[in-house]
Amino acid sequence: MWETLDQAKEEALGCTKCRLAEGRNSVVWMDGDPDSDLMFIGEGPGFHEDRQGVPFVGAAGKLLDKMLESIDLKRTDCTICNVIKCRPPNNRDPMPDEIDSCKPYLEAQIKFIAPRVIVPLGNFATRFVLEQKVSISRVRGQRFEKFGAIVMPTYHPAAVLHGGGEDSPTARGLREDFESIRDLLAEAEAKVQATDEPQEGTQQALF
Ligand code: URA
Repeated sequence: MWETLDQAKEEALGCTKCRLAEGRNSVVWMDGDPDSDLMFIGEGPGFHEDRQGVPFVGAAGKLLDKMLESIDLKRTDCTICNVIKCRPPNNRDPMPDEIDSCKPYLEAQIKFIAPRVIVPLGNFATRFVLEQKVSISRVRGQRFEKFGAIVMPTYHPAAVLHGGGEDSPTARGLREDFESIRDLLAEAEAKVQATDEPQEGTQQALF
């Protein structure tokens, strides 16, 4: 398969594996810093993302930026990807065969970026990462381990926009989950430090 993230990107940009290729303006690959430890995964591009070729630049993206700002992070402190890279007509839900066609691209993003913390946003991303047909309202805020990362699913920002606004239980859940992201990053860092340290009783090679 691909040996680098750029190779995967190049193939994605010309991809015609599913019907979504016909109506797209852009293949929306990702945003942010591929060297960062934190990855957000959304569902798929909407109108503005398709126009600009950048994920989360519409209304849900503005809320995502605000949530990041609330924990002193910027887009350049994380990576932002989607389960599918092309916009479905009228922003309908992605179909199972479209998700399957796009799967190798997100798998490559996770493999080459190797984030320590993954935050799937909403049902589609959560099911992709956990490989289980779970419901976001049941698993949000819980921690899992997948792809060598700590995974904490949370609500999709669009669920707040369409589901009652800033004082709704969804908005409160999203805020609560974002507040734990810094702790998760610290936990993941501590884990890496612990595995890097020589274990008691094992000899370190001196030369
Ligand atoms: N919603 C998503 O899931 N992804 C985007 O990029 C924009 C809106």
